Amino acid sequence: MGEALRGLKRTIMCGQLRESHVNEQFTVMGWVQRRRNLGGLIFVDLRDRTGILQVVFGEEINREAFEKADSLRSEYCIAVTGTLVKREAPNSELPTGMVELKGESVKILSESETPPIYIKEDLDAGENIRLKYRYLDLRRPDMQRILMTRHKTAKVVRDFLDENGFLEMETPILTKSTPEGARDYIVPSRNYPGMFYALPQSPQLFKQLLMVSGYDRYFQIAKCFRDEDLRANRQPEFTQIDMELSFVETDDVIELNERLIKRVFKEMLDVDVKLPIERMPYKIAMEKYGSDKPDLRFGMEINDLTEVVKDVDFKVFQDAIENGGSVRAIKAPNSAGMGRKQIDKLVEFVKTYGAKGLAWIAYKEDEVKSSISKFLTEEQTKNILNTIDAKVGDLILIVADKNSVAFQSLGALRLHMAKELGILEGNKEFRFVWITEFPLFSYNEEEGRFQAEHHPFTMPMDEDIQYLDTDLGRVRAKAYDIVLNGEELGGGSIRIHDTKLQERMFTAIGLTHERAIEKFGYLLEAFKFGPPPHGGLAYGFDRMIMFLAGTENIKDVIAFPKNQNAFCPLTEAPNVVDKEQLDDLGIYIKE
Ligand code: AMO
Ligand code: AMP
Repeated sequence: MGEALRGLKRTIMCGQLRESHVNEQFTVMGWVQRRRNLGGLIFVDLRDRTGILQVVFGEEINREAFEKADSLRSEYCIAVTGTLVKREAPNSELPTGMVELKGESVKILSESETPPIYIKEDLDAGENIRLKYRYLDLRRPDMQRILMTRHKTAKVVRDFLDENGFLEMETPILTKSTPEGARDYIVPSRNYPGMFYALPQSPQLFKQLLMVSGYDRYFQIAKCFRDEDLRANRQPEFTQIDMELSFVETDDVIELNERLIKRVFKEMLDVDVKLPIERMPYKIAMEKYGSDKPDLRFGMEINDLTEVVKDVDFKVFQDAIENGGSVRAIKAPNSAGMGRKQIDKLVEFVKTYGAKGLAWIAYKEDEVKSSISKFLTEEQTKNILNTIDAKVGDLILIVADKNSVAFQSLGALRLHMAKELGILEGNKEFRFVWITEFPLFSYNEEEGRFQAEHHPFTMPMDEDIQYLDTDLGRVRAKAYDIVLNGEELGGGSIRIHDTKLQERMFTAIGLTHERAIEKFGYLLEAFKFGPPPHGGLAYGFDRMIMFLAGTENIKDVIAFPKNQNAFCPLTEAPNVVDKEQLDDLGIYIKE
């Protein structure tokens, strides 16, 4: 039984009222957060997305309004008109806490059933119920703040890119498979039974075509779709700030994007990002941090012990070294006193990354203990401690293996230990780093061949083109990732714009000419018509908002996300469709 507005106009929003407004009359509209009946007075906390305002109804103020106010319940949607007064008992927690509105009339615009979840900050409810009633979940002030941050960030980005000569352009959602390497979401075609569109994993090829068309600088806040295993920072459909620029080299793209990052963090958080942002070649990142997205907010780098242990009579070390691998270690501070059980857990931990074991040396005040003491002379132990610059209290954790395993397992262990030791607790730093000089190819062990590490349109570094026919593992790419606090925020590259070089690329990854034409023929065709040198980058926009809003869950920054199983509990998508629809599409469902 909602009442109609009948011309009643809202004159201000709840969260905007301050002492300077006292003695004026206002009409506010919103939801009942809470109603307290104190005999002759009824207090209502009225909420809209700008904040909460206390409204007071009393017999003395207006009898009719007072009586109606008594029927208000949580989440009723109401309009109140009244005069703003100073509060006798101010509430310093609320921005509007110095004032309250004396309710002279109230309209119940619509009633509400008791909501299945509390509408309050820091709600501790199950995820599926929150997603099922997402429209209620989104009434919560913390969610509203995040989505307002999202809006504002998009605006800052748009304004910056507009000032820098970019055009915002849309690209198709119903399209053909794009080359980002995840599994596609596909859409069956009615016009062409048995044929399918693919949803774009990114606008990659279209933005390159726009460069061929002379648009010079393109951007889009673009929806992308990837059917991959979901994690805390991955959604099946997510948003990129996607851009492409003509007539540029790596430095140009990086310089522009550093200014963009600086602007965003300044405007959104008042944080000054120091420019230029550090750059680190991929190789160094892997060797020191075991990751191409290193978290540089703390040390605990990986050290190479191969040289100092080369004479140690321990088969595990010798085998690793003989097979072209190495012996590497990290040192964890204040950990020498760790118990056997805890250390055993660390051993199990590195095994999940393929390491065959984990040796350790505990540098205690009065003694040095080690799982490999029987293989080490005192001299050798001392040399190891010296090489790694160990201090009393350090626990040295050692992996001997082929390099990729040593790096990966110790890189993961480094992060794990930092968490265990609480090293990053309360750390408010935003530590950016560009990772550069990525390998252009990676070796696919299962298929026994090289594949493109990024996508096959990435330009090799000039000095490495010579190895394209001889030593693919050695070719580095003009590719760059922007990493923030150990997360990949974005990535991009300079593209190949030369058809001959592109052909060599395809040959290198074993893509036949026919197959290349079939997959990307339109791009290759376009490149026959004077393509400009170009390159670009895309940010994970959702990930950027996660940092700006301070959340570790990507679902918090998306109004209507999917759950961990790519399901939407609200709409119950995906779902079955009518048999007629399937018939139209010529689709038969296998049992
Ligand atoms: P890339 O595949 O690295 O590059 O994607 C760019 C950025 O998008 C974010 N991202 C995701 N965010 C949420 N959920 C996902 N499933 C997901 N997958 C990726 C990451 C990533 O850094 N076309 C190229 C860009 C270019 O070369 O210009 C591309 O898509 O933050
Ligand atoms: P063992 O000789 O089996 O007692 O092993 C001695 C120590 O070497 C144990 O602490 C093992 O965990 C460790 N170890 C085994 N394999 C490796 C490896 N690949 N790298 C580092 N340490 C290892």
